[in-house]
Amino acid sequence: MARVYIEELSHHVGNEVTLKGWLAGKRSSGKIHFLQVRDGTGVCQCVASLSDLGAESFAAADHMGQETSLEVTGIVREDKRAPGGSELTMKSIEIVSPATDYPITNKEHGVAFLLDNRHLWIRSSRQHAILRIRSEVASACRDFFHERGFVLFDAPILTPTSCEGTTNLFELDYFGERKAYLTQSGQLYAEAGALAFGKVYCFGPTFRAEKSKTRRHLTEFWMVEPEMAYCDLAGDMELAEQFVSYIVGRVLERRSAELKTLERDTTKLQAAAQLPYPRISYDEAIERLKKKGVAVNWGDDFGGDEETALSEEFDRPVMVHRYPTACKAFYMKQDPTRPDVALCVDMLAPEGHGEIIGGGQREDDYETLRTKITSHGLPLAPFEWYLDLRRYGSVPHAGFGMGLERMTGWLCGIHHIRETVPFPRMMERLEP
Ligand code: 4AD
Ligand code: MG
Repeated sequence: MARVYIEELSHHVGNEVTLKGWLAGKRSSGKIHFLQVRDGTGVCQCVASLSDLGAESFAAADHMGQETSLEVTGIVREDKRAPGGSELTMKSIEIVSPATDYPITNKEHGVAFLLDNRHLWIRSSRQHAILRIRSEVASACRDFFHERGFVLFDAPILTPTSCEGTTNLFELDYFGERKAYLTQSGQLYAEAGALAFGKVYCFGPTFRAEKSKTRRHLTEFWMVEPEMAYCDLAGDMELAEQFVSYIVGRVLERRSAELKTLERDTTKLQAAAQLPYPRISYDEAIERLKKKGVAVNWGDDFGGDEETALSEEFDRPVMVHRYPTACKAFYMKQDPTRPDVALCVDMLAPEGHGEIIGGGQREDDYETLRTKITSHGLPLAPFEWYLDLRRYGSVPHAGFGMGLERMTGWLCGIHHIRETVPFPRMMERLEP
């Protein structure tokens, strides 16, 4: 019998097909069982009657536990009320592997319990919706850059240096001979790539030993990082807004069913599919915050509260540029007209989802960069290769990093980003 996936069932109305999946739930009215069968692409109601199925199978169907794996064969019927527009009238059923006492039931479970059972929790419809949206975002990222001629340029995960400060580095013992670190960002390598290929991006896992237990911080997260030669801060911001609006449009277009499952108010996303995004300087951000009664002073870095207060003023992401040089990383280029601020940008998502992008123009002057490395307390030796990029044909260049989980969390409208990655890693959690 032709095996079909539930998402394609509406093309098979009137045909006999086989579904291969798992029992998501069931109810019975004595002479008829209604089995909810899921196969990863959707859920289908399968209707089993005693006369169609025969006594033995009918009785077996009544005793199956949730998440029993099974194959069901039957005729596809159109049913406008069913989620996918069709249901299955069963002719036969085969149990592949029985399951009893599945731990996740229809009752409310606490988050700690669900996270302990993350390997099973991912079977539920809400987690499905979130992780499918994550998958769509990741493929939109790749499409966006490939359509624009960027070369995928993978950065290493094991590195000899820090990129984003030394306070949140994961340190490793490298063969008992030296220290190595898990990468915080592929940027420094992407810069080498940009000077070789013109425009590149890297996309991979990055690590921060974040001791903050906030709803926006993971210790392992995925970052997509474009880097362009002959590009300044203005060009970088243009790319960032095109990139984010492209992803928003793509998810609205292709993942509307998932957004609906999540009860996401998509009117809040529509504006973010439109360009341009507002740009405000850090100076202006401080003024706006002060007017709102937020206690901040020029020179402070922004935390979640400041970001939320700022994002409330706009219906789409806002780009805040030119933060104080003192609160940013060593590689940031100072504004030549005002050395106290850096040519950098953070993009803040609406609705309090915080910073989704950080980036800017890189210091391209050899002497200045060398001095910056030293003044940030970093050793020069492991950065010699990076300094070479300024020794041999240095050019203005810029890029940014977007956190996949932060982006997905905002699109899904969910509170904590731990649900946006299959197996989240946080300070307090390494399992499963
Ligand atoms: O602002 P960040 O630290 O920038 C960099 O790492 C640059 N080197 C990127 C570049 O210019 N190529 O991080 C970039 C983004 C943030 O805006 C956020 O979306 C995400 O990475 N991010 C995190 N996501 C989850 N958990 C964390 N602990 C994160 N830290 C940063
Ligand atoms: Mg940042």
